[in-house]
Formats: sequence, C-alpha cells, structure tokens
Amino acid sequence: MTQVHTAANDAAEDTVTLIDNRTGKTFTYPVLNGTVGPSVIDIRNLYRDTGMFTYDPGYTSTGSCDSRITYIDGDQGILLHRGYTITDLAEKSDFMEVCYLLLHGELPNVAEKNKFVRTISRHTMVHEKLRGFYDGFRNDAHPMAILCGVTGALAAFYHDSTDIRDPQQRLIASHRLIAKMPTISAMAYKFSKGEPFVYPRNDLSYAENFLHMLFAVPAEPYHVNPAMAKAMDRLFILHADHEQNASTSTVRIAGSSHANPFACIAAGIASLWGPAHGGANEAVLKMLEQIGSPDRIPEFIARAKDPADPFRLMGFGHRVYKNYDPRAAVMSKSCHEVLDIVGVTNEPLLKIAQELERIALEDEYFVDRKLFPNVDFYSGITLRAMGFPTSMFTVLFALARTVGWIAQWKEMIEDPVQKIGRPRQLYSGATQRVYVPLDER
Ligand code: CMC
Repeated sequence: MTQVHTAANDAAEDTVTLIDNRTGKTFTYPVLNGTVGPSVIDIRNLYRDTGMFTYDPGYTSTGSCDSRITYIDGDQGILLHRGYTITDLAEKSDFMEVCYLLLHGELPNVAEKNKFVRTISRHTMVHEKLRGFYDGFRNDAHPMAILCGVTGALAAFYHDSTDIRDPQQRLIASHRLIAKMPTISAMAYKFSKGEPFVYPRNDLSYAENFLHMLFAVPAEPYHVNPAMAKAMDRLFILHADHEQNASTSTVRIAGSSHANPFACIAAGIASLWGPAHGGANEAVLKMLEQIGSPDRIPEFIARAKDPADPFRLMGFGHRVYKNYDPRAAVMSKSCHEVLDIVGVTNEPLLKIAQELERIALEDEYFVDRKLFPNVDFYSGITLRAMGFPTSMFTVLFALARTVGWIAQWKEMIEDPVQKIGRPRQLYSGATQRVYVPLDER
C-alpha cells in the first residue's frame, strides 16, 4: 500500500510525499501549479526513485503536457481558448480570428487578421495530382475514410513544409492544413455524390468558400446564404479545439516522434472518427432516427441504463464535463436559428432530441453520473438542416478541429521538455518460457 501526503514546504514549493508501506521509504515530488485548474504532481522521477510506474488506463488522472491553449472547467461547464470563453468567441468572433488566436496566443489586430485571412485563402487549392487519389476509392467510401487517406497523402506533396525543426516551415504546414481541409472535405463529398469537384474561390470567406465548394455545380450560379455561412462559421468555432482529447493526444503522440505534420493530422482524423469521440454527431442522428417518436424514448433510456446492454445515449456524457457542455448550449441555440433559416418549423428529430434531453436530465441515473448533452447532441440536427448527409458530420468536425490539432502539435514541438511519447504498462502476460517446436505441441 502507498499513502499520499501533500504539503507546502518552507521554500513555498508544494510537494507530495509518497510512503511505500512495504518498505517505509518516503519519496517526495513537486506539485506544479497552473494558472487555473487542478495542480499536477511531477512524477517524472518516480520510476527512477521507486522502480514503479503509475497505472492510469484512459489517462483519467494524467496530465500529459503543459499547455497554454485551451482550458476546461468540467464542473462549472467552462471552456476557454487562450482565456476567452467559447460563448464570447461563438457570439463575437469568427473562425479565422479563432484560428489565429489558437495558433498565436492573442487575438489579431486588423492588419494581422487581414494578413492571416489572405494567407489562408492563398493556400486553398490542392495539387492537381491529389485529385487522382479520390478515384482510388469506391464511390460508397465513407468520407472520413477518404479524408483520412487524402490528408495522409498531403505528406507526399508539400515537402517544403515538412522540416519540423524550421519554425517557418511549421507555420506554412499549419496554414496549408487549415486552408486545404475544406477543399479536400468538399472533394470527398462531391466524389460520393458523383458530381464534379468545385475549385475554391478566394474572394469568399472561409465558411462561404466551403459551402460553395460543397453545394455549387458548374452548370449554374450558386449564391451562398450569408446566414447559413454564419451558422457554419459558428459551428467551426465550437469545434476548433478541446484540450487533450483522444484525437489531439493522438496528434501529439504521433508528432512526438517528429513525424511529418500532415501524417500526424491524418492520425488525428482516424482517432476522431470513433463514435465515442467525433463520430458521435453521426451516431446521435442515427439514434434519433432509430427512436423515431417521443413515445419510444423511455425504451431507449431504459436500454442506456441497463449495464447488460452496450447501448449508450449518444451525445450524452463527457470525460471532462460534469455539467452542461457550454458548446452544447450554443449549438442548441444555433440549431433553432438554422431551422428558422431553412424554414423548418416542425423538425420531428428536434422534438425527440428535446424530449430525450428533458427526460434524461430528470432521471436519477443521468443525474447521479452527471451526464449532460455534449456538443454532438444538437450538431447533427443542425447539419442535416443545412443540407449535409449524415456521413459528412464527422468530416466537418475534423475540418474545424484541424486548427486545434495543429496548434497543439506546434506547441509540443516548441516545448523544450518534449520527449517521444512512450507510456509504460503493467505486464500481466506469460513470463519467460521455453519454445516448443510445432510438431511437439
Ligand atoms: N449513456 C449512458 N450511460 C453513460 C453514458 C451515455 N452516453 N456515458 C457514460 N455513461 C455511464 C457509464 O456507463 C458509466 O456508468 P457506471 O459508472 O454505472 O459504469 C458512467 O456513466 C461513467 O462513464 P464512463 O464510460 O466511465 O465515462 P468516460 O469518461 O470514460 O466516457 C464518453 C466519456 C464521452 C466516452 C461517454 O460519456 C460516452 O460514451 N458518451 C456517448 C458518446 C458521445 O456522445 N461522445 C461524444 C463526446 S463529446 C465530443 C467529443 O469530444 O468528441
């Protein structure tokens, strides 16, 4: 047994002392305090001192890095990017500004913003050869499979921005990824529809250009609805970054081996795809369709509560939020606005979602476990109303999260204490044994 004591010592350095009950030995470790949020015990010397590792499957108590980008207070339901609340950013800012903020740490002034927008818009095209990759996919390929493959392929195209030791090349890779992700996402959509690819238009805003590449066809003019572009932009802001989640940690650990930045983002996309993470927006819509009508909600609530049934309420619960996800609050408002814009006054899935939320928030099981709607709960209904097929939902999440991944990747590369990510394990397999030849087994 090991006991833990915390103390603030005379030198005002906080420490934690572990007592190994087996030997009586004590080991003292510094406590590092951030600007806000839980402190961390610096156990970098734990193995050297004690010969033991920590055991924390799912990293529920492990801080993997020192970051200045995003802060979440899960109990209060607060999300800050570089100190600004997500609610303020969603209401008062725009996605390009949020990208700049995440990458550079401060909001841009007018000249900085104009320059950044111009830079991003100049990188929107992709190499013509990249178009050939799409033909390698079946027409019914999931757009996330295409996005993952084509983003990985970018690693083979932009050799002048892959020297990760060069800050300028790192920045160019960042700009390229932010700029090209809408283009390759829209191409994945067009490919699945059997429609011609639409080239980017640099006179349009980031969100307008994306909608144009998705919904325009060469045969007729297409005018982007400004209210729809605004809603798209807000959705991008809501998904821009979220601290050390599974896909971001994947990008960081992939990048910790000094891998090509485009390949690292492809790794992040692969991790995001899972229904426990970014794939939840697609899963929510499928679940709401499966429920079909409000009177079947109790049946699904009962299944979600049954420990023998693997079914979970998709769009509910979060590792960090033990309160309402602040992104879900903005998303729910945005959902109503989009439905108004497209003139849908009676969306049956919205009715089911609202009733499901109401019932779950009053149910002891969900209350006790502090399970609240997360960002994915209302995003699917919103995206469907905007004209996106379900299979594109997670692609939109990946597009918006690219800036977060790349900002976190840059921060890791620039961190002097960065090392290759290499967790250890508790081994419980066979001990060394003698090999038995095949004919003797
Ligand atoms: N429906 C029913 N029960 C749930 C749910 C849910 N959605 N989420 C958690 N629980 C229960 C779980 O069964 C467990 O109960 P018990 O203590 O009795 O065993 C308890 O709540 C704690 O769950 P956990 O699995 O230990 O929590 P976690 O932090 O490992 O999982 C989660 C977090 C997001 C994976 C999980 O809540 C979940 O699977 N939610 C549904 C998928 C989803 O909406 N994902 C999107 C997350 S937000 C966007 C993003 O970051 O990508």
